[in-house]
Amino acid sequence: MKNILVTGGAGFIGSNFVKYLLQNFDYNVINFDKLTYAGNLENLTDIEKDPRYTFFKGDICSEQDVEKALTENKVDTIVNFAAESHVDRSILGPKEFIVTNVIGTQVLLEAARKLGIEKYLQVSTDEVYGSLPEDKPELLFTEKTPITTNSPYSASKASADLLVNAYYHTFKMPVLTTRCSNNYGPYQFPEKLIPLMIAKAVDGQKLPVYGDGKNVRDWLYVEDHCSAICEVLHKGKIGEVYNIGGNNEWYNIDIVKIILKILGKGEDHITYVKDRPGHDRRYAIDSSKIMKELGWAPKYQFDGGIEKTIKWYVENENWWRRIMKGEYLNYFEKNYSNKM
Ligand code: NAD
Ligand code: TYD
Repeated sequence: MKNILVTGGAGFIGSNFVKYLLQNFDYNVINFDKLTYAGNLENLTDIEKDPRYTFFKGDICSEQDVEKALTENKVDTIVNFAAESHVDRSILGPKEFIVTNVIGTQVLLEAARKLGIEKYLQVSTDEVYGSLPEDKPELLFTEKTPITTNSPYSASKASADLLVNAYYHTFKMPVLTTRCSNNYGPYQFPEKLIPLMIAKAVDGQKLPVYGDGKNVRDWLYVEDHCSAICEVLHKGKIGEVYNIGGNNEWYNIDIVKIILKILGKGEDHITYVKDRPGHDRRYAIDSSKIMKELGWAPKYQFDGGIEKTIKWYVENENWWRRIMKGEYLNYFEKNYSNKM
């Protein structure tokens, strides 16, 4: 049986991925996570007793932590989700993004090289491709689109991707990279658009839409991202990059209106606030490479996925209320006080 180290497995996508692996494959899964504000072991209570699952509290920036986790568990595969992931936080404080996303990736790569890891998969983002023009809907990000980063978050993720590529070319490391569009689904931290708007709508508060609300994102249900990563891990060509997207573009304002409608709340809850600095206008992914070469396709349509997501947040109010009472409050004050 393979031993797979999933970094950032206590976060949103990582925890969904750990469960997806256990449900669909026979891997021993080692969840390696520092448990930052975004890491929450409550995301994993339903599988924590699975004998194939182990939690290791560690920092990807620490050579000691990483080497210990890899050797103790005889790891042969690494999937790196661990990152600082929120653009607004990267604007408030870029340094942590460089430390975790760039240095952390390099530490993982170096340890993987030293210990002869069989496969290393870097979970990246479509944000490394910058922003697409609004008036050219035919333009999509392909794997050949030049890297053009506009936020400290995307710059840090792109830097990590370049390191992964360098380790492939220089050291012949068995690496793969995936670049996915915006995810949504259960366990997403309620600072990101969809869970934040659901929480605010449930509480009858104002929903803060940045700028004119006409920024476009390409949304993918988290389980579809997990299935795509597995396809790349199992069938992807070493050294290659695979884009993953839902072919599902929406204006932010329309997403917010859908959430209000499903929850039976009026559009008078919407409030337009000062725009995010450097706000990318449009993201849209061309997934034809992974679809044609690896046979992947998303399972969820947006209407089904968003209903399922909203239902989950309504039924799991305790999960997000506990988070919103904690560290999140300080961040909310910092990010929104100068926007309102
Ligand atoms: P998240 O913020 O919910 O979770 C990040 C996890 O990483 C947390 O559990 C946190 O504790 C852990 N972590 C942070 N720093 C660490 C460190 N130094 N050492 C070990 N663990 C650490 O993020 P997410 O939304 O689940 O995103 C996961 C990955 O997917 C990220 O790399 C992100 O760039 C990428 N991605 C996210 C999206 C999206 O829409 N959320 C889309 C494409 C790609
Ligand atoms: P977000 O979930 O932060 O993801 P990303 O910036 O990585 O795409 O934001 C999605 C979109 O929603 C983005 O265009 C910014 C916008 N947004 C708001 O309008 N209001 C908010 O309060 C937040 C958090 C995001």
